[in-house]
Amino acid sequence: MPDSAERREVDAAPLADDVRFDLALRPRTFAEVVGQKALVDNLQVFSRAAKARGEPLDHLLFCGPPGLGKTSLAHVIANEMASQIHVTSGPALERKGDLAGILTNLGDGDVLFIDEIHRLNPAIEENLYPAMETYTFDIVIGDGAGARAIKLPLKRFTLIGATTRTGLLTGPLRDRFGIVSRLDYYPASDLQEIVRRSAGKLGVRIDEGGAKEIARRARGTPRIANRLLRRVRDFAEVEGDGRVSRESADRALLRLEVDGAGLDPMDRKILLTLIDKFAGGPVGLDTLATAVGEQADTLEDVYEPYLMTEGYLVRTPRGRAATARAYDHLGRKVPASAQGSLL
Ligand SMILES: Nc1ncnc2c1ncn2[C@@H]1O[C@H](COP(=O)(O)OP(=O)(O)OP(=O)(O)O)[C@@H](O)[C@H]1O
Ligand SMILES: [Mg+2]
Repeated sequence: MPDSAERREVDAAPLADDVRFDLALRPRTFAEVVGQKALVDNLQVFSRAAKARGEPLDHLLFCGPPGLGKTSLAHVIANEMASQIHVTSGPALERKGDLAGILTNLGDGDVLFIDEIHRLNPAIEENLYPAMETYTFDIVIGDGAGARAIKLPLKRFTLIGATTRTGLLTGPLRDRFGIVSRLDYYPASDLQEIVRRSAGKLGVRIDEGGAKEIARRARGTPRIANRLLRRVRDFAEVEGDGRVSRESADRALLRLEVDGAGLDPMDRKILLTLIDKFAGGPVGLDTLATAVGEQADTLEDVYEPYLMTEGYLVRTPRGRAATARAYDHLGRKVPASAQGSLL
């Protein structure tokens, strides 16, 4: 993992100041959630129905790349259900006692949010199953011949899990969620709305052209859109009249090395490495990761999904390959030998 000084503007993982701003900019109600309409509509129905029946909402799993709103949605749901939310994460639950403590503290209808749920230790994960299914927690009292297994009753709660790696979730855990939703990258029009609203909250003067330019270059990711807005504002305040227009946004984004297509230095490095060092690929993930100096996980979770969505990179059975679009974007000529085999 590069340290924070090296972290890039367009890495969707939260940077220190994102955490602060995430809180301020996070939607609180279904009405404040921009986009993801089908998902939000469904969640609204499920939560109304559960409320009317006086039951907790079914357990929910949110999957998808970083910064698309998994944590935000968990908070919105708790808020809309008028429930208390308890937040923890897979790696934080190290011992069975940690989980027991959290579960036995939940009140009726509370939401337990477990971030990075794919990183739960398998032994702990098994203790979650009865909790999710029958609201009980199995404990053993005493030891040796006198040991007794008892079922500790829990309050009826809703588990909301979030993961960037659906593939790493075990089948049994996944199956215990009543609702599984995948969050996808946002269209630029939704990001424009998010930029506009965030600018309102932060008191940034921005016109539609400025909001559109930031939205278009934010890698389909609300967190990145909000971050670029703050950085662009800095440039506008220090080097301009404080107003964010299309031109001032473009100037600032180029200074941040976010190119016209919204790719950041690491995106370009990945594609250039594929093209220049591996003749366009295919090349295995680990080899590519080593060549660009990034962890394979990060490459797979953070960079590749967007590059694939935008058609710059493909995953083939023999590894990763650059597409004609990647060659084109980076001003490289598609080699004659590869022509026709590329997208
Ligand atoms: N649908 C949305 N509407 C408005 N703002 C949003 C939306 N989704 C995300 N955001 C903004 O993006 C920020 C990041 O979202 P959030 O923290 O919920 O992402 P995440 O999916 O939990 O990311 P991670 O995987 O890194 O935990 C939020 O603080 C919020 O400002
Ligand atoms: Mg989150």
